[in-house]
Amino acid sequence: MAFSQEAYKAYFADAPDDVDVDGIDLKRVPRHIAVIMDGNGRWAQRRNLDRGYGHAAGVSALKEVITACVRLGVGALTVYAFSTENWNRPKEEVDLLMSLFASTLIDELPLMHREDVRLKYLGDMDELPDDTRATFERGLSETADHAGLTLAVAVNYGSRAEIARAARILARRCTSGEMDPGQIDEQAIERELYTFPLPDPDLLIRTSGEQRLSNFLLWQLSYTEMVFTDVLWPDFDRWDLMRAILTYQRRHRRFGGVSDDE
Ligand code: FPP
Repeated sequence: MAFSQEAYKAYFADAPDDVDVDGIDLKRVPRHIAVIMDGNGRWAQRRNLDRGYGHAAGVSALKEVITACVRLGVGALTVYAFSTENWNRPKEEVDLLMSLFASTLIDELPLMHREDVRLKYLGDMDELPDDTRATFERGLSETADHAGLTLAVAVNYGSRAEIARAARILARRCTSGEMDPGQIDEQAIERELYTFPLPDPDLLIRTSGEQRLSNFLLWQLSYTEMVFTDVLWPDFDRWDLMRAILTYQRRHRRFGGVSDDE
């Protein structure tokens, strides 16, 4: 869906006092935002609820952020929903998350159609339960011709495993004679990462006060601006997103060089 000034204004009306919506430069909105959605469990525990309620509330937060990204004209939103390490959680929580992914993908297909969102999957799908994998496959095929926001969902994703997989693919090409080792450059590796052909994220947001990458997009985040917030993911809303983008826009990105004004 093409950016609409009216839809944007309506979605970001009535801002809280500390959010200077007029201060945003709509021409410098991040093209790609990556999010580590952390704090669902603590959100639930603070309310004496099971962790599952936190994950369900996390889905609502994600829907708001997807819509906000569409209204802002963001090109891609990548979210870390389940890491390769998350299999170590209690079985009940893993099962609940897998069925939540499946049910959310089905329930939110109308949202993806309405907002022209194209789904992308990052990770090893082969290890997912059959029904979860089937819903991802359905979501991918049903949204394949959408041209608005790309929503990349990382499930059973680990960045080191992703890089090792790329190395294996390239090594096989070399042993079969299809490729020479001298041709392995940064672009060749990038082409084999799950995120291809998305541009690297401009902005990474991690919620819940934790300040680490947890094996997420280690290659792709090399020059990404990072914004950490204490807000727990289920409480994260369009205004928190706007705050993060305003923080991002106040930073000078130098990519290892010097900026014009220095
Ligand atoms: C981290 O919080 C969050 C997760 C492991 C799951 C995130 C998943 C969603 C928000 C659902 C998204 C749905 C789709 C379809 C992509 P935590 O449990 O680690 O929280 P804690 O650190 O407070 O325990």
